[in-house]
Amino acid sequence: MKRAFSKLAFPKYTKPEVLTEIPGPKSRQLLKEMDLLQETRTINFFMNTAKSQGTYAVDADGNVILDVFGHIASLPLGYNHPAMAEAATKPEWLPFLLQRHALGVQPPEEWPRELRETLMRVSPKGFSEVMTTCGCGSSANENAFKAAFIWKRKRERHSAEPTREELLTCMRNEAPGSPQLSILSFEKSFHGRMLGCLSATRSKPIHKVDIPAFPWPVCRFPRLSYPLEEHQRENREEEDRCLTHVEDIVHSHPIPVAGIIVEPIMAEGGDHAATPYFYQQLRRIAANNGIAFIVDEVQTGCGATGRFWAHDYWQLDNPPDIVTFAKKMQVSGFYLKGEFRPAQTYRIYNTWMGDPLRMLQLHVITNVIEGENLLRRVSDTGSFLKMELERISQEYPFLVANVRGKGTFLAFDTPDGETRNQLLFEMRQKGVQIGGCGENTVRLRPPLIFDQQDANILLETLQTVLRKFKNHSVQHKSVPIK
Ligand SMILES: Cc1ncc(COP(=O)(O)O)c(C=O)c1O
Repeated sequence: MKRAFSKLAFPKYTKPEVLTEIPGPKSRQLLKEMDLLQETRTINFFMNTAKSQGTYAVDADGNVILDVFGHIASLPLGYNHPAMAEAATKPEWLPFLLQRHALGVQPPEEWPRELRETLMRVSPKGFSEVMTTCGCGSSANENAFKAAFIWKRKRERHSAEPTREELLTCMRNEAPGSPQLSILSFEKSFHGRMLGCLSATRSKPIHKVDIPAFPWPVCRFPRLSYPLEEHQRENREEEDRCLTHVEDIVHSHPIPVAGIIVEPIMAEGGDHAATPYFYQQLRRIAANNGIAFIVDEVQTGCGATGRFWAHDYWQLDNPPDIVTFAKKMQVSGFYLKGEFRPAQTYRIYNTWMGDPLRMLQLHVITNVIEGENLLRRVSDTGSFLKMELERISQEYPFLVANVRGKGTFLAFDTPDGETRNQLLFEMRQKGVQIGGCGENTVRLRPPLIFDQQDANILLETLQTVLRKFKNHSVQHKSVPIK
């Protein structure tokens, strides 16, 4: 195994190398094979993972592609990072490759230390506890909602045990055992696709249609005007309007609100964010009304905004009650305040409750983030990239607008979904993989190791594609300025 890994660390790519169209013949053949068994329409190309390195993905046809999408924002250190490759050859990893523990029954003896030295080491301010969940962001949010409901009912019962009536009625899915409680979320938000969290997801109808939902409230989310500095007054008015809407719902919704969930940057829904003021006020409204304030850092967490946790930018006096994480962290779960730990056992529980192997990966990730000062790199590369995108936006105002984001977690709008998809396709043909979100938005989600040289390649390729667009069909369109 050692030899295989040392080989992995060998190739070093500095620019895209495109040999075929993407997906090429081999990827297309694999798509055919796979389509007999599973849905394939969302797949861009198949990877040769062993040959991939750093910020470059190598596909099945040998194309070397700069990866600025990073597996939907879930690739922290790029491909086959030497520190990860080295750690994976250590004998301590082997038992966790060979079997998986039921962490709620027989955790490995290393587990308390790993929790302390990985998850608690990077804990957001104000937390002394953490729960790990199945691995995906949806499982983190789903369990966070349960924690909020259990906490709310415990408060209402003044910490007494559930009554006999509650225990009987819950078995029939009836009140008071199965109470009417809700989670308030925002228009365009995305909190996952599992049955519970899907009721809080509001990004696209196709995710929700045909699936029974809880009748939970949804609130308007501020649509800010850019550049922010030039629209401070109207943006503040817009945020105040949305906050009034939140307060109205909290006071009048027929189903009492147990939790408010919000993403620091509403990613899948189109990379929208409000100013710190908005989140500070949300925090205040939640605290004043006995509501759990849940921050969904599934996509924003683990450094991509230049801070380990994006909500750090809000400078809250009173930290959130729950912060959920997954994606780049490799493990999923949520930080919670002590009062959110259920009084009874087995209430937030499942077979695996996490994965020690992924935790070992996170250990390496946090070491590398610290050792290579990656948050600084993200900030520096991100500032450069944003500045250059703004310049490009001035050059092609009809194609690129509303450049926004923090660190390398950046986005811009195109005139419409068709142009956006064409842009993503053309970029991929030139060996640069980027992503879309919302209706007409391009989002950048590179790994944390992405540097200025990578940024220059992205920018040069983007300009080549934009020039082609300008000379051809899309020049009559223009981007709606928010
Ligand atoms: C903010 C946010 N929350 C939750 C999720 C759901 O995570 P997963 O797809 O891992 O279930 C996502 C996924 O994109 C997300 O961006």
